[in-house]
Amino acid sequence: MVENYINTTFQLPCGAKLNNRLVKSAMTERISNQNFEPTIEHEKLYEKWSETGAGLLITGNVTIDRIHLESAGNICFDDENMIPKLKSWAEAGKKNGNHIWVQISHAGRQSNRFSTLRPLAPSEVQLKKIGLFGKPKAMKESDIEQVILGFTKAAKITKEAGFTGLQIHAAHGYLLSQFLSSVTNKRTDKWGGSLENRSRLLISIIQEVRKEVGPSFPISVKLNSSDFQKGGFTENESLEVVKMLEKEKIDLLEISGGTYEKLVFFLMNADKQKLSTKNREAYFIDFARKIRAISELPLLITGGFRSNTFCKEVLKNGELDLIGMARPFITNCDEIPGFLKNEIESLDNLVLRTGISQFEDAAEGGFYARQIIRIAKGKKIKLNMSPLICSNFLIYHEIRKAIAKKLRLPF
Ligand SMILES: Cc1cc2nc3c(=O)[nH]c(=O)nc-3n(C[C@H](O)[C@H](O)[C@H](O)COP(=O)(O)O)c2cc1C
Repeated sequence: MVENYINTTFQLPCGAKLNNRLVKSAMTERISNQNFEPTIEHEKLYEKWSETGAGLLITGNVTIDRIHLESAGNICFDDENMIPKLKSWAEAGKKNGNHIWVQISHAGRQSNRFSTLRPLAPSEVQLKKIGLFGKPKAMKESDIEQVILGFTKAAKITKEAGFTGLQIHAAHGYLLSQFLSSVTNKRTDKWGGSLENRSRLLISIIQEVRKEVGPSFPISVKLNSSDFQKGGFTENESLEVVKMLEKEKIDLLEISGGTYEKLVFFLMNADKQKLSTKNREAYFIDFARKIRAISELPLLITGGFRSNTFCKEVLKNGELDLIGMARPFITNCDEIPGFLKNEIESLDNLVLRTGISQFEDAAEGGFYARQIIRIAKGKKIKLNMSPLICSNFLIYHEIRKAIAKKLRLPF
């Protein structure tokens, strides 16, 4: 019988140990209160996820300021006064002896119009998505310095609140990913141009965060394999950035890919054949091999993993160290303990279809957002939801949250 590799421990370079190889990857919760703080609902949600037995839970986007939000329901780690509330959340999330890490982020030009009409970004390159995103303003040197301070402060709060690690979000088209990509970074100063310059913000943040949290606190980076956009961040550039991350001695590299303009990190099962990973269920597994050839960083890949046999195979072959899953932690939550024990073969999640291609992403996103909110409220998931209602849900929810927080409205 093949050893149950998923259920083996894993030690990170900083010394921290994970109970097994399964990671709940970041999923935005969208349920903070009007002061951008977590509530009892976050505690319920993460307690439930802790009970799955996964070795590591990564929180959804937590932002460094109250303007550059990924969602109007984000939590913002900008104020030490909220540490007592954060402590209860961290406690609930590590109840089962697992790790819980905070994903720290700044949305840059992907901050929607509910939070700001003129988000700060590397350059004035606007995101085109049904008019929901304003034209960005190019950051001044002092704005960039504020971002480094913001990430460092969020890291300090993360550690003081009792979370067991952190992840710097440099993927999916958010600010750090915008700096890395030549499509969105047109700067001619030391923060733009060469890849070394485009990576400078990410590397400076890692260095300052490491100084803040010390050598034994896990630091992870989520990086795109590529933007999947013409002229954008390429696989070769990504490999060069991985070499830089290795020099900085981060503890875990998570690979994903895409941006709001190319949502490849969020593919529906039936669309997998669009990527080269056609015959292998995970989206970015081929890229993992290229990373292994140049780097010894602990490697987490997320996107598409569903079957026990495949997860075991890639772990056994040493193609990666940790398996990241997101949607199965919503629709298949109760099956995960059995999956870890090798008793359940597959965690296939539901794929919601509207039948109208322009609405499919929004329907899928809205469906999962609604389920997360249900779980957080202590309700059971509901599989038979209207795809059309789901496809409008995110806009409706963002408006409600923006009104509650007295954010500006785009009309
Ligand atoms: C509802 C939802 C919210 C997500 N929010 C985030 C997020 O906050 N940060 C992030 O890096 N990725 C986020 N993702 C992407 C997931 O981490 C993951 O990369 C993607 O869902 C593919 O993995 P899967 O096939 O196992 O679902 C989100 C995905 C879903 C479904």
